[in-house]
Amino acid sequence: MRTHYCGQLNAQQIDETVTVTGWVHRRRDHGGVIFLDLRDRDGILQVVVDPDTEKAFATADRARTEWVMQITGLIRARPEGTVNAEMTTGEVELLGREVVVLNTSDTPPFQLDEHAKVGEEVRLKYRYLDLRRPEMLGNLMLRSRVTTFVRNFLAKNGFVDTETPILTRATPEGARDYLVPSRVHKGEFFALPQSPQLFKQLLMVAGLDRYFQIAKCFRDEDLRADRQPEFTQIDLEMSFVDENQVMDLTESMICELFQSELSVDLGEFPRMSYAEAMARFGSDKPDLRIPMELVDIKDLMRSVEFKVFKEPANDPSGRVTVLKIPGGASISRKEIDDYTKFVSLYGAKGLAWVKVNDLVSGIEGLQSPILKFIPDDIVKKLIARVDAKDGDILFFGADSARVVSDALGALRVKLGHDLNLLTREWAPLWVVDFPMFEDAGQGQLTALHHPFTAPTLDGQALRSSPLAALSRAYDMVLNGTELGGGSIRIHDQETQEAVFDVLNITPEEQREKFGFLLDALRYGAPPHGGLAFGLDRLVMLMLGATSIRDVIAFPKTQSATCLLTDAPGEVSQEQLKEAGVRISKEKVELM
Ligand code: AMO
Ligand code: AMP
Repeated sequence: MRTHYCGQLNAQQIDETVTVTGWVHRRRDHGGVIFLDLRDRDGILQVVVDPDTEKAFATADRARTEWVMQITGLIRARPEGTVNAEMTTGEVELLGREVVVLNTSDTPPFQLDEHAKVGEEVRLKYRYLDLRRPEMLGNLMLRSRVTTFVRNFLAKNGFVDTETPILTRATPEGARDYLVPSRVHKGEFFALPQSPQLFKQLLMVAGLDRYFQIAKCFRDEDLRADRQPEFTQIDLEMSFVDENQVMDLTESMICELFQSELSVDLGEFPRMSYAEAMARFGSDKPDLRIPMELVDIKDLMRSVEFKVFKEPANDPSGRVTVLKIPGGASISRKEIDDYTKFVSLYGAKGLAWVKVNDLVSGIEGLQSPILKFIPDDIVKKLIARVDAKDGDILFFGADSARVVSDALGALRVKLGHDLNLLTREWAPLWVVDFPMFEDAGQGQLTALHHPFTAPTLDGQALRSSPLAALSRAYDMVLNGTELGGGSIRIHDQETQEAVFDVLNITPEEQREKFGFLLDALRYGAPPHGGLAFGLDRLVMLMLGATSIRDVIAFPKTQSATCLLTDAPGEVSQEQLKEAGVRISKEKVELM
């Protein structure tokens, strides 16, 4: 139906007769001449229709926004002064001779060229129109190039693309499962995979050696700007490797991808231990574009009378730390109040601060609501430790280590953005040496990665001092986002059982949920490890998008619904009966 895409036409085709198809992006009537901006996935072409081509003119005159047209005519140079350097087709226009309406369109619920003002609800309800916008089509096209690149890279490196089941058993990755009732086995449920973790390990036991999959994963968890209930992983696993081989290979994949798509050289990724990341940045995914660091002052605050600092300073699980913001003394009281509210979201009970106005005047040159509670010699040591200068502000966190790290870690990132303190565009790193377990309270431990990650201690040592164990896990972090994570896995049954025991999973439960894995580990499981990237997050970062929904064709809302199809929806009594499911009467009240 066409000879060219609209967006492909340029000065090379001048004097050629071409046929294009597409949507009317805009229609303008300029004193007897009709201009149609015709749009397809490649771009926008200006079409001019003169009254002397009577039939074509009449059709063009009728055309309205988003009508679907087929137009044949001559490509010519635009008259001088009307060249549009911003458009790839900006040097030329199509003199339309034959104009055919392929389909009409209702008036769209929003202008496709004014998306910024359109609410996301409308965009998601009419997603097929939203996706027509060049920016959104561009996002999907980049996503497609990324998956093609990844497939080629991994295939070249001997990875076998293998699908794993969607109807399966629970795969614990720390979220709730989406459940699917079984019609054949009433009262029993499949779980949708939170990741292909266990299957990819079984493929290593099977001898596949290198596996990959662009895999759909499902997690019923609280959503944020970079989380979806249904998302995609670039999932891979390798046999007979150590952590360095997995990290080297995946790092070179990401580097080559950034080079080929964005002409960006990410350089060699630094590696940082979890302990160092938490100490310096209060986060296990530090944004290294931001130069400020946390400085611990627990030792200085042990004997001060200010209880807010003294108590956590004397508590082994407490933390007292300072975040220095160079030039931050100009932050107003109102802004400090706002930052105090911000850190309270992370559990902080306050946000003490010191403004450094004039160091030469000593203590007098400092402004703060808390200095009266702290002896002068300690204040001096504090100023020296953080190397404060005139014009700086110091923010303090004092609480349990977790609250302080979360609150000041997040504040560091927020201030970095608010005050434009970013030092570079891209900052990748590996975070390694994670603890194997964390304390979930009430004597219960949870696995920091997942329970299939190899610990640094053997089974016996692990049982006796689990919190001392590190794991052989690694996370790839880019600009403060966890792009991917993985680990060397446990490949012997004994260690796997020890980990389950430490997690308080009873032997019966172990058999019931993971018997197939424990069995497989007894049949010659090779040493193996792997990693999974969040594809959506990767594409989002490459585009500089702020919402994960902008890189997914048909995403869910923050409340895990699809506004386009209205899913989830009710089903008929008959279907429920077949599935062996009864909806409790209290359903409405429960909501
Ligand atoms: P993990 O749970 O860290 O590891 O997931 C890997 C990567 O997937 C992305 N991701 C998400 N993206 C969007 N929405 C979500 N809800 C979401 N959850 C996770 C992140 C994350 O880094 N089986 C292990 C991997 C392994 O050990 O090989 C796993 O799933 O970018
Ligand atoms: P207060 O003693 O509650 O009046 O607090 C005095 C100052 O310390 C105020 O600026 C509070 O915002 C701050 N503050 C209170 N609790 C904490 C905390 N846990 N960490 C850091 N600053 C705090």
